[in-house]
Amino acid sequence: ETDVPDLKDALDVPFGVAIDGRETTGPSSELVLKHFDQITPENDMKPEEIQPTEGTFTFDDADVLMQFAKDDGLRVYGHVLVWHSQTADWMFEDPTTGEPLTTSDEDRQLLRDRMKTHIDTFAEHFAQYGAYGEDNPIRAIDVVNEVISEGEDDGLRRSEWYRILGPEYIRLAFEYAHEAFGDGVALFINDYNTEQPAKRAAYLDLVGDLLDEGVPVDGVGHQLHVSLLQPINQIEASIEAVDALADAKGVDLVQAVTELDVAANTGGESWTSLPQERAVSQGYYYRDLFDMLRSHAQDLFSVTVWGPTDARSWRSEGFPLLFDGALQAKPAFWGSSTRRSSP
Ligand code: G3I
Repeated sequence: ETDVPDLKDALDVPFGVAIDGRETTGPSSELVLKHFDQITPENDMKPEEIQPTEGTFTFDDADVLMQFAKDDGLRVYGHVLVWHSQTADWMFEDPTTGEPLTTSDEDRQLLRDRMKTHIDTFAEHFAQYGAYGEDNPIRAIDVVNEVISEGEDDGLRRSEWYRILGPEYIRLAFEYAHEAFGDGVALFINDYNTEQPAKRAAYLDLVGDLLDEGVPVDGVGHQLHVSLLQPINQIEASIEAVDALADAKGVDLVQAVTELDVAANTGGESWTSLPQERAVSQGYYYRDLFDMLRSHAQDLFSVTVWGPTDARSWRSEGFPLLFDGALQAKPAFWGSSTRRSSP
């Protein structure tokens, strides 16, 4: 473990990892500090964690991560302000009857007010860790997450946010976030499958519309929950397409790989340990992927892996990460830290 290179030196862009409080002490924290210079709270800043009932804000778990970042000089990528998932039901319910909110003017205004209160309270609380854009660890945040549904006419997911407010909720979220955080925190839209052509097209349409409307979007996130079968050139095509969109609109947009993991069980296999031959394939995959990402370093705000070890992964059956459950570097780690091209 001690003679492995520091991964954060091998990427040319800030290198992040999704964690929770378990990674802030002991050997896991040492692994995080050695290899990463940014963290994303895997769950602890999600709406239902921050505001489980209306007006009751619970910041304890997120504060543990913020203090860890502050003490050790890590950047924080915030996740997430507005999402259809992991948001408590009360958000979309009438406060007295518990019935779903309607699309009446009153109910729509109530939901806008709730969104604004959530974002304002979030930003005010974490301001205790320093001024945004100066010494606050939060340098970027997912303002909206997973709003695309490429099968719909307008490309937008039919969530409760959408049902009640329509497409305006996306613009509102960015405007409220911009008022709350100022210019010092990069405001991201984030989604999965953005490497798939149909999803990519819908994503680009939405981002282009938002930019045309002057909505303060700073960054475009690619989750990259992929597998060994995912062609890397398709991922690169999405990065290049976003870059071309920014050029066409004459704006600066950054991009981030926000939730990277590469499942090795491409046939849905269920293993008790990762077979050697798949571990090797995964090592080559990570090598080629990181090589491609390095070549786009100038466009990338950060690259984040979605968890420190396979044992801590949301899809642990795919053994998708860089370290095993014993915190040992896998071939995926060695691939990631290997430069094929010269810098
Ligand atoms: O905290 C509760 C605990 O109190 C309870 O006893 C336990 C019983 O199920 O559940 C715990 O909550 C779990 C939570 O993770 C914290 O561990 C939830 O059940 C579980 O569903 C939740 O999963 C998270 C998932 O988002 C939920 O959507 C994963 O850890 C997290 O990795 C995953 O992350 C998402 C990103 O936010 C958005 N993009 C996709 C990505 C993968 O799904």
